[in-house]
Amino acid sequence: MDRKNPAARRIPVCEPFLGGREWEYVKECLDTNWVSTAGGFVRRLEELATAYVGARHAVAAASGTAALHVALLVAGIEPGDEVLVPSLTFIAPANAVRYAGAWPVFIDVETAYAQMDPGRIADFIAGECRAAGGRLVHRATGRRVRGILPVDLLGHPADMDAILALAREHGLVVIEDATESLGGVYRAGGGARRCGALGHIACLSFNGNKIITCGGGGMILTDRQDWADRARYLTTQAKDDPVEFVHEHVGYNYRLTNLQSALGCAQFERLGEHVAAKRRIASAYRQALCGVPGLEVMGEAPWAESAFWMSAVRVTPERYGMDSRALLRRLATEGIETRPLWQPLHLSPAHRDAQRRTCPAAEDWYRRTLCLPCSVGLTPADQARVIAACKGGNAP
Ligand SMILES: Cc1ncc(COP(=O)(O)O)c(C=O)c1O
Repeated sequence: MDRKNPAARRIPVCEPFLGGREWEYVKECLDTNWVSTAGGFVRRLEELATAYVGARHAVAAASGTAALHVALLVAGIEPGDEVLVPSLTFIAPANAVRYAGAWPVFIDVETAYAQMDPGRIADFIAGECRAAGGRLVHRATGRRVRGILPVDLLGHPADMDAILALAREHGLVVIEDATESLGGVYRAGGGARRCGALGHIACLSFNGNKIITCGGGGMILTDRQDWADRARYLTTQAKDDPVEFVHEHVGYNYRLTNLQSALGCAQFERLGEHVAAKRRIASAYRQALCGVPGLEVMGEAPWAESAFWMSAVRVTPERYGMDSRALLRRLATEGIETRPLWQPLHLSPAHRDAQRRTCPAAEDWYRRTLCLPCSVGLTPADQARVIAACKGGNAP
């Protein structure tokens, strides 16, 4: 990094911000020899998560993906089942469905906030499924539809009450992917619930680019004691006896270490400040870029308080003068890193064996959206550089 010449400094899209007691807590692990999967910080991290999110139980896991895998298993997803997944998301939730031996069915997102569209879920159920012996069956595949896995995309909650109502009506389980949305709030029916407490079971991620990080890690959250117990059992190799190495089931080594949890505890103590910074950054982009023809900064639904994990901007090339990928390349020449959204999963070669369907809104968001630099530690001067560079794209 060239500190003498800030204009030449590379601005990453999203990097960790270690501004609290990370050193102290990690040093405590080293000083006491508690570096592995046993140790007080794992439990403390789980307690911080339950207290903050408002779920009764939390089980730490090695990653958000591992958490999703186990959450699907404890929620009763079985091999051959189908789970509804938004087409527009990072690939991990769809992969986790496959790890469980089940199949994702990709559902389009809505056009305003890029969240899984409850209307499209209803269309799928009404148009493509039948009820049979208390089960919902996908007519084209003959498979049982067992769950919905909404993702709170980019930090913004999905419209969860509408999704939960559909789930209730059709006997489905809701696994909330809150890996991007810790700190987000869903306001409905006069109440407010935090992301991570919106589904029957939920997952967090603490990887390096998330709002808070353990270096890598995840969490399963649920109000159900039996599901939490099962999740703890499966994430710890399904060991049946405290002394003897006997196992009735195939479990997983999905434990989080005390070292990672120590980092996570220090980060959790600063979560409020991290979310405030994310929201401040998003708001500054919105104010500065709202008048730029062809650029639209993603906002939040009236019922949502987004954690703004990412600050995303949607480009209309005919008005802006270049498309999102040309903007990405141009900002890169100025040392500004941006990221496109994920290839919609209904187009992903990795999921070519899942049922093909069209998801035009997901494709439009994918084509037109870029994530701008939004690290918790982004300085006003660096953000001003990003804003100026985005405005420059609009020059005649
Ligand atoms: C929507 C979504 N789900 C799941 C994950 C997986 O989390 P992890 O990287 O901790 O496995 C991520 C992020 O990486 C994500 O963005």
